[in-house]
Amino acid sequence: MARIIGGVGTTHVPSIGKAIAEHKQKDPYWSPFFDGFHYVHQWLARVKPDVAVVFYNDHGLNFFLDKLPTFAVGAADEYRNEDEGWGIPVSRSLAGDAKFSWHLINGLVADEFDITMCQDMLVDHAVTIPMALMWPGGGACPVKIVPISINTVQHPLPSVSRCLKLGRSIGRAIESYEQDLRVMVVGTGGLSHQLDGERAGFINKEFDRFCMDKLTSDPEAIARYSIPQLVEQAGAQGVELLNWVAMRGALTGRVSELHRNYHIPISNTAAATMVFDNQAAEQRKAA
Ligand code: DHB
Ligand code: FE
Repeated sequence: MARIIGGVGTTHVPSIGKAIAEHKQKDPYWSPFFDGFHYVHQWLARVKPDVAVVFYNDHGLNFFLDKLPTFAVGAADEYRNEDEGWGIPVSRSLAGDAKFSWHLINGLVADEFDITMCQDMLVDHAVTIPMALMWPGGGACPVKIVPISINTVQHPLPSVSRCLKLGRSIGRAIESYEQDLRVMVVGTGGLSHQLDGERAGFINKEFDRFCMDKLTSDPEAIARYSIPQLVEQAGAQGVELLNWVAMRGALTGRVSELHRNYHIPISNTAAATMVFDNQAAEQRKAA
């Protein structure tokens, strides 16, 4: 059976891609952020995932305001990136696992999530930057992905609690897959940031810390926030936290925090990286 080995949360700011292309990882501006990934690399080398289920938000590359699904799941064997206009190189294509995607889609629909299924799906910086951070060097990526896009762009957005439930449904579907896959779950974006309007540059360190603490022990505490309250606390784009909440929902076992790095700012964003361990019930019994 497939097993959920843990989760990673990471910021997806596009200028990280530019810093990678220009080899700036050790510059004083960038090193406090990139150094936070050393642990992630060690963890990935240890847990050796086969597949990453990636909760993210599309920023206008695959979906635009004219047609914007609340939840969309990729069901392809390959996902391409294209130039989004951020001045960063177009990313390598990422391999998918369409058979596994369809299993997850069946699980979601059985749980009454009315999702959009995408047999052709471009992935933007919210997928490619996290993948480049986790598996640097630009070679073929060693994991296949299932991208799951959550609308954090055009209101009305799904509630925090709905995203937690979406994650939980995905977690159950992963664990009912017959193949012995080692699955990690990723949530991208955030933490607090606002890119435009009167509060452009807004960051809320205290709220970010609250979310990082509660993600492990009590995600329901975050789910008590309405979307307007979340915008107020985290900024208009800080609602990307929904992707992290869905990731946490998919960790169905005993969850513990293994690592956290928090650095302000990267571009306009409070940049956070976290790694979570997930001990499934059988693993706990065997240990
Ligand atoms: C920035 C942050 C984002 O989440 C994004 O999608 C684009 C830009 C930024 O801080 O520059
Ligand atoms: Fe974003």
